[in-house]
Amino acid sequence: MGSKDLINKVLALKRERNAVILAHNYMDYDVQVVADFIGDSYDLALKAMETKAEVIVFAGVRFMAEQAKALNYDRIVLAPDPGAGCTIADALDVGTLRRVKEEYPNVPVVLYVNSNVDVKALADYIVTSSTAIKVIRRLSSDVVIFGPDSNLADYVAYMTGKRIIKVPPNGKCVVHANYTVDMLREVRTKYPGARVMIHPEAPLNVLRLADFVGSTNQMIEYARNSGYDEFVVGTEIGMLNALRIKVSNKTFYPLTTGPSARCPFMAMITLDKVYRSLRDMVHEVEIPKSTADAIREAFERTRKLLEG
Ligand code: 13P
Ligand code: SF4
Repeated sequence: MGSKDLINKVLALKRERNAVILAHNYMDYDVQVVADFIGDSYDLALKAMETKAEVIVFAGVRFMAEQAKALNYDRIVLAPDPGAGCTIADALDVGTLRRVKEEYPNVPVVLYVNSNVDVKALADYIVTSSTAIKVIRRLSSDVVIFGPDSNLADYVAYMTGKRIIKVPPNGKCVVHANYTVDMLREVRTKYPGARVMIHPEAPLNVLRLADFVGSTNQMIEYARNSGYDEFVVGTEIGMLNALRIKVSNKTFYPLTTGPSARCPFMAMITLDKVYRSLRDMVHEVEIPKSTADAIREAFERTRKLLEG
């Protein structure tokens, strides 16, 4: 089946099933084309919370689909490929988090949304790359337990001046953790007129040399609103699809190319799998109600802090 036929079939099935497709900014171009909303982790979580559609197809990795289920428990949430994990989420287990909580009993636990549901249910606050700094600044405590991304933990410590207890010490993204200062210097030479945007899952020594650090949505806003016309995109390479759709009048260059620039888990979510999940209503996300309730409460507590 050609891509155009498949797109039309997905659009028809979406109407038939009263479904909404939420797609992360890293998705393939044809997946973004069939999506109702394209966004970063925070934006998509809010969209999942608000939707009245009966079915949510989450075109993103598993922790994102699980987050959607936790926030809107009555909906059917489909994960086109439930095997699509995340190296950051898989870096933290319940036993490790419990041990750190016992060691620092009165310290708030802030977890990155890139966490698996069993650990996330133990969080006091749940943050994304767009909210982490603001949330941690607003906490009254000067010491915070934070995980599982070690680079984001370093960046948060650098930006807020607070003491961050990392859990675990070394959770890393398979794409962003590979960025180096040399890569950044190289693109500065190659594209002297371009602004360099980097995702905060990259190492701190690289982030300190960037023109802009932010979530995938914040990069879109920065590119759209800045007076510059050219940008180096320091995040997963699928992001160029979102920029092509949302900021079509500007020019974007990837910081890196080749296989290491693509998240192997995001790449598992293809248009064909989106189609099959809707056609067969398969790979429904199931999490215990008590786990979902705990995650929703932590997310709402975080939202109140952000909006207060
Ligand atoms: P964003 O929330 O910035 O889209 O990040 C999600 C992610 O997985 C980054 O690799
Ligand atoms: Fe996880 Fe990195 Fe892939 Fe995002 S890009 S899903 S953080 S492994």
